[in-house]
Amino acid sequence: MTFTAPPLNHTTREVALADPATTDRLGKLLATVVGTRDVVALWGDLGAGKTSLARALIQALLAVHGQQEDVPSPTFTLVQTYEAGGLPIWHADLYRLSHPDELLELGLEEALESGLLLIEWPDRMEGDLPGERLDISLEEVGEGRLARLTGWGVSWEERVNRISVNMADKDA
Ligand SMILES: Nc1ncnc2c1ncn2[C@@H]1O[C@H](COP(=O)(O)OP(=O)(O)O)[C@@H](O)[C@H]1O
Ligand SMILES: [Mg+2]
Repeated sequence: MTFTAPPLNHTTREVALADPATTDRLGKLLATVVGTRDVVALWGDLGAGKTSLARALIQALLAVHGQQEDVPSPTFTLVQTYEAGGLPIWHADLYRLSHPDELLELGLEEALESGLLLIEWPDRMEGDLPGERLDISLEEVGEGRLARLTGWGVSWEERVNRISVNMADKDA
């Protein structure tokens, strides 16, 4: 007998990011809602702002524990890891992944079990992307960016709602 998981509900919210400072603000806000076993998939073309957003998120998590790091793009290393107060953070850029088997070598399975995983070019993971995740697609619009947040599963649906409300609140 084959078990087929029921389809997950999802919620999508659009957030306008007028300038890099607003991208940073979204990253900082995301840092307040993520934790272990969370997966954030960052979709979008080269230069869309995937690394910028991941950097703001990671630096905010590190800052809580008094740490400061550069957070370079994982373009060539494919994966950069951090630890924020016991939370392992994996920042992956799969653009240069040559074969899906490489995912095992990168240790992303471990990341899925015990840490926070941020993935640029998540399409390279094919069927290995967990269903319950946050998708963020970034797109150039004029001088700024449009972020489309899709939360899959109840927990992410709720968090996406909170983030969009908070981003819309100019005084937050
Ligand atoms: N909201 C924004 N509006 C305009 N430019 C932005 C915004 N967010 C980020 N940027 C800029 O866009 C570029 C994105 O580069 P990067 O984050 O490396 O993109 P990617 O990882 O998607 O290839 C950076 O130069 C960054 O300063
Ligand atoms: Mg990048």
